[in-house]
Amino acid sequence: MKVLLTGGAGYIGSHVAVELLECGHGVIIADNYSNSSPDVIGYIESIAGKHLEVYELDVSCKEGLDRLFAESRPDAVIHFAGYKAVGESVTLPLKYYRNNLDCTITLLETMQNHGAEQIIFSSSATVYGAVNEPPYTEDMEPGRSSNPYGSTKQMIEQIITDTAESCRLSAVILRYFNPVGAHSSGLIGELPQGIPNNLMPYIMQVAVGKLSELRVFGNDYPTEDGTGVRDYIHVSDLAKGHVSALEYCVKNSGVETLNLGTGIGYSVLEIIKTFERVNGVKIPYSITPRRSGDLPASYADASKALKLMGWKANLTLEDMCRDAYRFITRLHSK
Ligand code: WQD
Repeated sequence: MKVLLTGGAGYIGSHVAVELLECGHGVIIADNYSNSSPDVIGYIESIAGKHLEVYELDVSCKEGLDRLFAESRPDAVIHFAGYKAVGESVTLPLKYYRNNLDCTITLLETMQNHGAEQIIFSSSATVYGAVNEPPYTEDMEPGRSSNPYGSTKQMIEQIITDTAESCRLSAVILRYFNPVGAHSSGLIGELPQGIPNNLMPYIMQVAVGKLSELRVFGNDYPTEDGTGVRDYIHVSDLAKGHVSALEYCVKNSGVETLNLGTGIGYSVLEIIKTFERVNGVKIPYSITPRRSGDLPASYADASKALKLMGWKANLTLEDMCRDAYRFITRLHSK
């Protein structure tokens, strides 16, 4: 199949591109590089040993997207394009609503105009909100999001569901837990701009001495060691989940929502200790007050993805920490 990846040069999109190419699919990337780099394209091609098509464009640009569909004729779309900084979405909500919703609506209209009938959407476990208790199952009613970024994910899930009910569109909505790690080649990984907000990218910068110490946001949660618990998933496992979702989407009509997680929760202190042990580095840290909006624990019930698509995560926390460190040391030594 020929698959369009919107935002395909980003952290998750680039890993999905590699998996798709390695499975024999054709890949088209549409990206404006607002939070990624054109260098990633060469890395994807060198890992997979194959070429892909690239369009430098903003997915909310109707004319550009229309030209892409007319020229390249994708059969299916995996939609990653969108802003994703939780904190920024609180200070600039309209930037998030405008961009993330505009990109999606323009994409769905263009797909309809060109007869493309399969879409996989990059959603987030954040939609479960604070009202549900983990392990999260897909049939739980989404809770009110604590930030506009999470609200855009909920709204887009609704837009896709309504569109699929009104026309010949089949969709798989993937709710990611906490993607971390990097490709085992060390060539592609997460490249946050400025000081990272998320745990693993922050630890990676402390590990190479770019930041002096990690702040652990709270050790008084009702968890085993008091620190926050999350379901960290290796980005390469997550990427394989997209290939399975694509195959599922081709064979099944309607809309399906699936968690992509391991089903296992690890605390912040467990992440630090594993990273230190696996990589032989010290991660200095101090305990600070809780970060506003954080939940004590979040992890998936990952059984539906296994039952419907035969997919499950295979890589361990050790793999995630080792691959993350390999990537950051390569970048840092350049
Ligand atoms: C994990 C744990 C923190 C940083 C967010 C978004 C979600 C998705 C992924 C994507 C928590 C603790 C963190 C630090 C710390 N968004 N922590 N010190 O909050 O689960 O999910 O990112 O694009 O929608 O909400 O991930 O990595 O920020 O935090 O102690 O410097 O690490 O409190 O317990 P989170 P995270």
